[in-house]
Amino acid sequence: MGEQLTLQLLVVKFGKKVVGVKLGILGLGTVGTGTVQLLQDTTGRHPLLQEIEIYRVGVRSPDKLRNVELPAGVVTTDLEAIVNDPQVDIVVEVMGGLEPARSLILQAIKNGKHVVTANKAAIARFGNEIFTSANQAGVYVLLEAAVGGGIPVIQPLKQSLSVNRIHTVTGIVNGTTNYILTRMQQEGSNFEDVLADAQRLGYAEADPTADVDGLDAGDKIAILASLAFGGRIHLEDVYCEGIRQVSKTDIAYAEKLGFVIKLLAIAKLHAQDTSKLSVRVHPTLLPKAHPLASINGVYNAILVEGEPIGQVMFFGPGAGAGATASAVTSDILNLVATLKTETASTAKPNPLLACRHQDYCQIAPIAELVTRFYTRFLTKDQSGVIGKLGTCFGNYGVSLESVVQTGFQGELAEIVVVTHDVKEGDFRQALTEIRNLEAIDSIPSLLRVL
Ligand code: HSE
Repeated sequence: MGEQLTLQLLVVKFGKKVVGVKLGILGLGTVGTGTVQLLQDTTGRHPLLQEIEIYRVGVRSPDKLRNVELPAGVVTTDLEAIVNDPQVDIVVEVMGGLEPARSLILQAIKNGKHVVTANKAAIARFGNEIFTSANQAGVYVLLEAAVGGGIPVIQPLKQSLSVNRIHTVTGIVNGTTNYILTRMQQEGSNFEDVLADAQRLGYAEADPTADVDGLDAGDKIAILASLAFGGRIHLEDVYCEGIRQVSKTDIAYAEKLGFVIKLLAIAKLHAQDTSKLSVRVHPTLLPKAHPLASINGVYNAILVEGEPIGQVMFFGPGAGAGATASAVTSDILNLVATLKTETASTAKPNPLLACRHQDYCQIAPIAELVTRFYTRFLTKDQSGVIGKLGTCFGNYGVSLESVVQTGFQGELAEIVVVTHDVKEGDFRQALTEIRNLEAIDSIPSLLRVL
């Protein structure tokens, strides 16, 4: 049986002898398990899948129960042996984390192996080192699963949309925070209560920091920005603000004003200076008619805008074993097709698969952002307070779109202001002056408006 299987891998197809492509998979968690399951069940899928051999699977805990069956000898705890094994053609890194993932990817590249990875954190931090090494070694590093889970967005940006001049990428790229915000909106609940329930139900990690503080979305928008704008991104230039400070009060005010609140990851050409980008993650008031406003629950969506295409939106499951396996395996298939068609004498890097840029994009600091703001003030209930707010804003060129006073919190009046477009630095200077007004108790919320 085993021999038969090996023979099948030396397939004769279309009159051409094709050697089975050997995978070394690093990690057998949710993504690794989903990928193995997909590769083992090829009926009704692309015939090239039959030419792939799961040659080695590296795990850190061999005794952990997993939902896959693999032949004896395939599973190993020696991950380094996999990336150094001359038999392995493609290394599939689905273990996550920074180290040893980074070192194993670099070692695989050094050994002339193509790499498929789902590791947004490693790519966002070490992309420069990884892609420089890959270009030098003449191998590809593909990462469809790193952003948007099962949603095809990396390959479309690299290939189908690459003839466009992209000016904006706006994404809901973190399922956990979208789930929390959706439930806060639908149930009128507090952030802490929904987070605790999401943790109980497995939608949020025990340590939710990377998701709720916007860091996971920051990694993802750095990757999308790099592809859309053709330059590398210093992750530390990406402004990240999470959703901990979003309150049910603000969600209710937003609703009344015609908005929903979403954690958006945005990469955009700078309004005043198109040699710079604005790359940022923050909770945002989004008009209810915006295409991203109806993306709810754990779903992800990415809206790409450019010329001449106009708007294109990608929507789907941003996480989960099957969805992510679909993305990982599409990369594997792309590499198998490349290995099948390339011969040693014709092998040249395919510019649609390789990383095509070396330079870094210039990112504008957040103070230079031009946007609208939503701000909620708690003030003493005195005459002239709204006038004083207006004067302070006017001193810094901040023009107001709406001012609403509907509620009280105890003795304090609640005033909600939405501005017209303003430079963030000017807006913050106005707020500093406002904070010093005797009538102002506090400024509980400050959110950007799309
Ligand atoms: N923690 C991520 C999310 C998982 O919530 O979207 C997928 O990267």
